[in-house]
Amino acid sequence: MGTNKQQVLLSKWMDFYSLATAVLVILITICMAKYIKILLGKSKLPPGPTPLPIIGTLYKMNFNDIVKSLLDLSKKYGDIFTVYEGHKPVVVLCSYKAVKETVIDKAEEFGGRAYCASFFDFTKGDEFAFSNGEKWKELRRFSMLTLGNFGVGKRSFEERIREEALYLTDVLRKTNGSPIDPNYPILRSVSNVVCSVVFGDRFDYQDEQFQKVVKCVQDNFRIMSTRWGLLNNIYPNVMKYIPGPHQEIIENFTYITDFIRKKMESNMKTLDSNNPRDFIDSFLIKMEKEENNKTTFYNPDTLVMSAMVLFFAGTETVSATLRYVFLLLMKYPSVAEKVYGEIDNVIGQRPPTFEDRLDMPYTEAFICEIQRYGDVTPLALPHELTMDTQIRNYNFKKGTAFTLVLTSVHNDKTQFNNPESFDPNNFLDENGKLIKNNALLPFSAGRRICPGKSLAVMEIFLFITSLLQNFTVKSPVPPEKISVTPVGVGLEHIPPKYEICLLPRTCSQK
Ligand code: HEM
Repeated sequence: MGTNKQQVLLSKWMDFYSLATAVLVILITICMAKYIKILLGKSKLPPGPTPLPIIGTLYKMNFNDIVKSLLDLSKKYGDIFTVYEGHKPVVVLCSYKAVKETVIDKAEEFGGRAYCASFFDFTKGDEFAFSNGEKWKELRRFSMLTLGNFGVGKRSFEERIREEALYLTDVLRKTNGSPIDPNYPILRSVSNVVCSVVFGDRFDYQDEQFQKVVKCVQDNFRIMSTRWGLLNNIYPNVMKYIPGPHQEIIENFTYITDFIRKKMESNMKTLDSNNPRDFIDSFLIKMEKEENNKTTFYNPDTLVMSAMVLFFAGTETVSATLRYVFLLLMKYPSVAEKVYGEIDNVIGQRPPTFEDRLDMPYTEAFICEIQRYGDVTPLALPHELTMDTQIRNYNFKKGTAFTLVLTSVHNDKTQFNNPESFDPNNFLDENGKLIKNNALLPFSAGRRICPGKSLAVMEIFLFITSLLQNFTVKSPVPPEKISVTPVGVGLEHIPPKYEICLLPRTCSQK
């Protein structure tokens, strides 16, 4: 009896063992087949480190500073090289010349968006930042037209930005020159500018729901600039089972879109088709017009995702730029003095206008240098070829993914005399006149160039001039002790946390 039982157990165990061995052999065979395919394909792509099974070339990456790893690899492999995110080849563009030959000179070909899990797995491409083809074209065209209709980038919008800068001034004045972390006041204020267009109104800085929603935006930028966020983009199917901060990405996006959906529902109740109040109304009106079109791109879900993309992209990018502005003004008091001098001479105490910048070459050069040196979106967003294309003797297939290392463009020694240092003279000639430099690409380039560029440029100028009319910046620590090294690198270069004292000032000229 006993022997029989043992024999049954043994045969069950053998069955299981054979099955497990068979599964393992199949998995290893699939993996090896994939790996051999990669090795065969590798010879057709630009050079790069040898990929390993499953991890690709990740063993060459420092996840605390992925941009530095790419810059280091370009020293060995040249300005167009290939890395492997797991089994997926990604061609890296790592100089101004490489970006010019591709994304700029072959804009149509390089205008696709590659899969970017952290965003796409939430939006499913139901918007115009992570979609492709007709949908992307139509929604981007509509969104830019709508922003323009609400005055964005035009003179009429200046007043809205100045008003918001005044709200921020009031909050900062109450600090009476004591040290503060300016992060949240700046974030909320900047976000309100894009809110005026998307939601038709600004929010009180103390509004708790608003505070939470802008924090969700900033948190996602932060998480996507950590090793968790980077791994989540490469192995989404594995990372979704692993606990870690990347799990908050979807929660944060959900909070933001719930907020927008409620706004949309409230707009629906009070919609006047002849009088759109904001982006949401304009989208709803377009939906009404396209009611009978079966292939329309306009529906409530696309509205929510498109508004989310605008709100998300237009909040932390400008906020991080302004945080760099104040950090670098504290670090370089002599630069700050020159900016103050120009504000006093050209604007005095009247409200600044965007046109004033034409008479303020130093301030303009300072802003260009902030965008170059701060480099807040170091890797832009991933691109993909929309058709087969030849570049430098390589025949790339439609669908090939490309990463633009904007940091390499902003530090390209063939384009800037002094790229290592923060120096507004990088944008000034010997007579103090502003020099345009084509290698300044904070908003990227080509078909996917940031559609918020004109809004951002106007915001940055008007916020800086309005705030510096009212405050002298002072650091609670000596300038040489101020670190400007980013504390996160990935989707964003995240400026370090700091404290600043804002002392009331009046301009010398009235
Ligand atoms: C200083 C501020 C900003 C910077 C540095 C910046 C930078 C960028 C960059 C590098 C890209 C990726 C372009 C590419 O794929 O090559 C981008 C895309 C985008 N940005 Fe901005 N941006 C800023 C402000 C804004 C604002 C204010 C808005 C909205 C009003 C906005 C909306 C978008 C959208 C919707 C996209 C996706 C476009 C597409 O895929 O067609 N951005 N931005």
